[in-house]
Amino acid sequence: MAWKNDQVSKKETTQILGLARKSLVVAGDFVEMGCYKGDTSLLLAEIVKNSGKKLWIYDSFEGLPEKQDFDNSVLGENFKKGELFVTKREVKQRFLKAGLPVPIIKKGWFGDLTDDDLPSEIAFAFLDGDFYESIRDSLELVVPKMSSGGVLIVHDYTNPALPGVKKAVDEWQKLSFKGFEVILL
Ligand SMILES: C[S@@+](CC[C@H](N)C(=O)[O-])C[C@H]1O[C@@H](n2cnc3c(N)ncnc32)[C@H](O)[C@@H]1O
Repeated sequence: MAWKNDQVSKKETTQILGLARKSLVVAGDFVEMGCYKGDTSLLLAEIVKNSGKKLWIYDSFEGLPEKQDFDNSVLGENFKKGELFVTKREVKQRFLKAGLPVPIIKKGWFGDLTDDDLPSEIAFAFLDGDFYESIRDSLELVVPKMSSGGVLIVHDYTNPALPGVKKAVDEWQKLSFKGFEVILL
């Protein structure tokens, strides 16, 4: 399937998919927190199929949440509450249409999810929630489940339009990420 995505660049996608392939040898499943329309999820599903691993994807399916003060940036005024709305049904249909296994699709705010909503072990995680609380809550769920040698990617860390992402990651880095690779795109 060819790259088509208005949220993640082609270059970033190439890097994400390379790391995903590398993670196939690591114990655990694949996770994407903030799947939106599923553009990256579809590409991950192709990598995961026939591997014995599962892909788990998450979204509010209500669009973006409210911003906090530290998410504000003049460059990011287009990121507003309710933007990036898509239904879970639409996303599911895209997998069926593409003839790919439908992932485990969980609808909910990241802050409301519990341990049981995630796989017991994670080989590969792609965090793409755009805002401070979304990344903080994703890290809280995912970090304790990362397998040794796994890969955790955080999107928008270097994006000046979304300063809350860097703040959330930097707070976690103080506590240190151990035993797995962290890629900050
Ligand atoms: C940038 S888009 C994801 C793009 C997708 N990863 C891709 O590669 O095409 C961000 C998504 O995260 C979701 N999101 C952001 N914060 C969230 C939260 N706290 N809980 C649930 N979903 C959230 C939004 O609804 C939106 O669909």
